[in-house]
Amino acid sequence: MPGFSTNLIHGANHLNRVPDVAPPINVSTTFRYDNDPEKLVKLADKELFDILGTPYYSRLSHPNSEQVEASVASITGGYVVAYSSGLGAFYASLTHFNPKVLAIGKGYHGCHGIANIWTRNYGLKQIDLDDDFSQLGKGDVVHLETPVNPEGVNFNIQYYADKAHARGAYLVVDATFAPPPLQDPFDFGADLVMHSATKFFGGHSDLLAGFLITKSKEVRDKLVYDRLLLGTNIANLESWMLLRSIRTLELRVLKQSENATKLVKFLVDNQDKFPDLVKVYHGSLQKDDYIKKQMPRGHSPVFSIEVSSEQFAKSLPSKLKYFHHATSLGGVESLIEWRAMSDDKVSVTLLRVSIGIENVEDLMEDFAAAFGVPDLSKLSIDA
Ligand SMILES: Cc1ncc(COP(=O)(O)O)c(C=O)c1O
Repeated sequence: MPGFSTNLIHGANHLNRVPDVAPPINVSTTFRYDNDPEKLVKLADKELFDILGTPYYSRLSHPNSEQVEASVASITGGYVVAYSSGLGAFYASLTHFNPKVLAIGKGYHGCHGIANIWTRNYGLKQIDLDDDFSQLGKGDVVHLETPVNPEGVNFNIQYYADKAHARGAYLVVDATFAPPPLQDPFDFGADLVMHSATKFFGGHSDLLAGFLITKSKEVRDKLVYDRLLLGTNIANLESWMLLRSIRTLELRVLKQSENATKLVKFLVDNQDKFPDLVKVYHGSLQKDDYIKKQMPRGHSPVFSIEVSSEQFAKSLPSKLKYFHHATSLGGVESLIEWRAMSDDKVSVTLLRVSIGIENVEDLMEDFAAAFGVPDLSKLSIDA
């Protein structure tokens, strides 16, 4: 079995259709059927297995999307279904399981928004992850986001997998905040893994995409048929850009994770010198035993800070040189967001920070100056 890094580069090689080292963008929406009349078999009579790899119409699949899926399959050991966005993937997960009850905790507000549409249209009952799971029945869904938005702190996947399975329910893990190689939710009992590939897989803040990953070919086939009908397949150009990004996933994510953990430590170590810094949230500050096993290669590159006032929270981003004030996360450039701007459920004193691949010393200096201590020699630095 080739290693993780090798798979990132070569995991989709078997789908190369031309000798080009950099695969071309295939812009066609439709693909010629076989010229040999003897080979024409109705699509309905074919296994989906045969259809993938022989593109027909790009709403079903196309060469670039299939390469992305093969590449991510090679590093996750699952079947991958790509979507036009992370929320497209979440919608597909609900459509597939069609639960009567959904246990869903804190996390990305857009997923809650979709669950609320289901409650409005179909009467889906929603409970919290802390509620009594005896309300869940066979085929219902527990949707766990870990590390969670916006704080970047972890929840114990195995704990929720056991609780879900005891009721005959499925565990779906939104692992957007800790992509491979940081975390593998399948090791801890997840039935389906979801990613907003817009974030770390894309990694350059220039494409929208989502993944569902399953260990079951049957589930994959059903998801692909649903996707064909719902029209939520990832587009050609986005697939091509995503494949290019995936080559450097490991390099980027490990550096981002390391930078974030160092910056968090710097902020916590010097908190007494930064009177406006009230609290730092991050997985690296959690002490629970399961975390080392669940996050073996580092913590999420995303964390949050609580500051002294709404006014300070709104003004901090404009004092930083190396952080764009913008929503989203996972790109090579660091971002900071006054989070109440896009999520009205979070405190007005909270800022979400997504760390890029800059020199971490520059990010430390930037934060220190914004907190009123421009001279780094007065601070404790353990970079
Ligand atoms: C944890 C999480 N899940 C899902 C999504 C939705 O992804 P997308 O914006 O690709 O639809 C996001 C977006 O921020 C997210 O942070």
